[in-house]
Amino acid sequence: MSDGEPQERIEDIEIRLLLEALYSRYHYDFRKYSLASVKRRLRQAREQLGFNSISALQEAVLHNVEMLPRLLGYLTVQVSEMFRDATYFRAIREKVIPHLSTYPSLKVWVAGCSGGEELYSLVILFREEGLETRTIFYATDINQDALAIAEAGVYDLERVRLFTENHRLSGGKSSLSEYYSAAYGRAVFDKSLRDRVVFSDHSLVTDAVFGEMNLISCRNVMIYFERPLQDRAIGLFKDSLARKGFLGLGAKESLRFSAHAREFDDFVREEKIYQRVAR
Ligand SMILES: C[S@@+](CC[C@H](N)C(=O)[O-])C[C@H]1O[C@@H](n2cnc3c(N)ncnc32)[C@H](O)[C@@H]1O
Repeated sequence: MSDGEPQERIEDIEIRLLLEALYSRYHYDFRKYSLASVKRRLRQAREQLGFNSISALQEAVLHNVEMLPRLLGYLTVQVSEMFRDATYFRAIREKVIPHLSTYPSLKVWVAGCSGGEELYSLVILFREEGLETRTIFYATDINQDALAIAEAGVYDLERVRLFTENHRLSGGKSSLSEYYSAAYGRAVFDKSLRDRVVFSDHSLVTDAVFGEMNLISCRNVMIYFERPLQDRAIGLFKDSLARKGFLGLGAKESLRFSAHAREFDDFVREEKIYQRVAR
């Protein structure tokens, strides 16, 4: 290597090698995530975990399985809120629920559920609309720590103020406080909200379809994927949806440029809610 090799390029090589190592060793595949965001996160991990280079970080994660969850904590973004983008949940309530209520049983998949905020929003909404008891909810993520938080359903009370306002704006028919009890600065959500939930480790990058969903909500996950990976995930959703099932995406996501766009109709265009065309 010449002395003039730019540092930037060396770091790109290190990142590529680290992502290959993560995949070969643990089957976590970040190779087609948006590079700018992966780079930023790995730099942050290197600095905060105290390594001199990405290569040193790679060596540590390759040889020490305990380093894996720590690194995943950096590589996956866990920002979430209950009833985040209240107008999305209002559209689910006012436009999607009337269709779903015609079915005797329902399956809902929250893909990339993070700490459970989006999941609980939907369970509460379905309860308020009288559909919870005929629904099974699947909540999936690749981050085990996030899934553990989702299963616990405990959040800082500070955050719950915002959740409460979002819930109200979503057309909530009750007060959010009916669903949790407050203790020591935390809100413990009622365990009955989990009665009909199956939590599971599932990757949109490496795993297969889920069967016959009536609604898939996958918000703010594909935003971190490059286009081919977005297409893979959307293909997975297409194959996992029942006839005329619904797909809800995040505010900055869209099916418009997807290879599978023709398989969906806009249902509530401004909220990125789509309907699988009838086969
Ligand atoms: C920004 S959070 C979004 C949380 C929630 N859906 C929302 O909109 O509030 C992104 C979540 O996607 C998860 N994730 C990242 N890659 C994934 C993959 N390949 N398969 C499933 N989930 C993934 C992350 O672990 C994280 O929990």
